[in-house]
Amino acid sequence: MLLPLLLATSLYALLTVAQTPKRTITKTDGLHFNIDGETAYFPGTNAYWLPFLKNNSDVDLVLDHMAQAGLRIVRTWGFNDVKTAPTDGTVWFQSFPSSGDPVINTGPTGLQRLDYIIRAAETRGLKLIIPFVNNWADYGGMEAYYAYCIDNNSKVDKKEQWYRSAKCQAQYQKYARTIIERHKESTAVLAWELANEPRCKGCDTKVVTEWARETSKWIKSVDSKHLVAVGDEGFGVKVDGKAGDYSYSHGEGTDFASLVALPDIDMGTFHLYPDHWNVTVAWGNSWIQHHAAVCVANNKPCLFEEYGVMASEKCSQETGWQATALKTRGIAGDQYWQYGDTVSTGKTADDKFTVYKDTANWNCMVEAHGKNIKASKTAKEI
Ligand SMILES: *[C@@H]1O[C@H](CO)[C@@H](O)[C@H](O)[C@H]1NC(C)=O
Ligand SMILES: *[C@@H]1O[C@H](CO)[C@@H](O)[C@H](O)[C@H]1NC(C)=O
Ligand SMILES: *[C@@H]1O[C@H](CO)[C@@H](O)[C@H](O)[C@H]1NC(C)=O
Repeated sequence: MLLPLLLATSLYALLTVAQTPKRTITKTDGLHFNIDGETAYFPGTNAYWLPFLKNNSDVDLVLDHMAQAGLRIVRTWGFNDVKTAPTDGTVWFQSFPSSGDPVINTGPTGLQRLDYIIRAAETRGLKLIIPFVNNWADYGGMEAYYAYCIDNNSKVDKKEQWYRSAKCQAQYQKYARTIIERHKESTAVLAWELANEPRCKGCDTKVVTEWARETSKWIKSVDSKHLVAVGDEGFGVKVDGKAGDYSYSHGEGTDFASLVALPDIDMGTFHLYPDHWNVTVAWGNSWIQHHAAVCVANNKPCLFEEYGVMASEKCSQETGWQATALKTRGIAGDQYWQYGDTVSTGKTADDKFTVYKDTANWNCMVEAHGKNIKASKTAKEI
């Protein structure tokens, strides 16, 4: 009885090893990402609220569902800045009290929540993109830093000061370092991201570009293994005949091509929101192609990192973009905004862009898109 049992056990072990891909730190491979040894186009999503869930079972449930659906790249917030630290158990990561130094919360309602997401993603082969600060005031953002490090009497715009202030940047780096040092070897981190949608309205584009140059260089000096992205919306692409078009202009102070070209930036990122940008859904297809062309010119992958429409019926609008992204050289993956599910406290955040699991929108944007990606891989092998 022992021998057959041993044989069966070792056979099982062999099979399990063969079925579990080796987890590796994601690298770029020309215009693609190489995830766990596979160079291909990868589907993904955004779930900014993941580290704010307090129940580990909820996190496990959501990540299981994502992995089962074949989603591979997940973007979630690595920031949660507050002016006053909550005392009711609400998750927060960094506080800026009215006097004294900022406090980084490494406790159980702090960065230990993000630690849990990263560990749970490792075992499931999910790859995370983690930005360190928000352009927007949601979850604090750059504004949360202002009272600590901005000169109220200066005529320079506060946002511009944030990018250029040594005191703001020292604190930002202190915070980012706390996260990076904890996960330097993690196979679940696809990329550290400088910010969510960094903008500097009316500023010379050099302000954000130079900040991105210095910050990406600094991240690589702390962690040379992981990829680094900017997290910008992709504004300011130079295209003939588009100069007067707001999204193609430098009005928000960012220049996509200069950011992609930075030596310590490994990929291009861009977003797409016709509801907010006063453009048509069809416009989105050329927006995707114009960014891809810049990435091709830099031999770096482009990640179509956020996209969405508010209309409740999303299939007729968003699947066209997915098809364009999949067939356009230079686009390495896409991440719709945003993932929706039901956890112990009810439905996850609904901002009208949410695609809830097992709905009609899910069937076209996750299930069917996943099948199209698989089919395109088979086509490439032939
Ligand atoms: C945590 O979530 C699980 C399922 O997602 C649920 O069964 C459990 O009751 C939750 N625990 C708490 C303390 O809310
Ligand atoms: C700047 O103004 C804000 C409120 O407008 C205040 O909270 C902050 O303390 C001020 N900072 C300095 C350095 O005076
Ligand atoms: C929105 O786009 C239309 C068509 O391109 C244009 O006529 C209109 O001026 C734009 N509105 C704003 C607020 O930019």
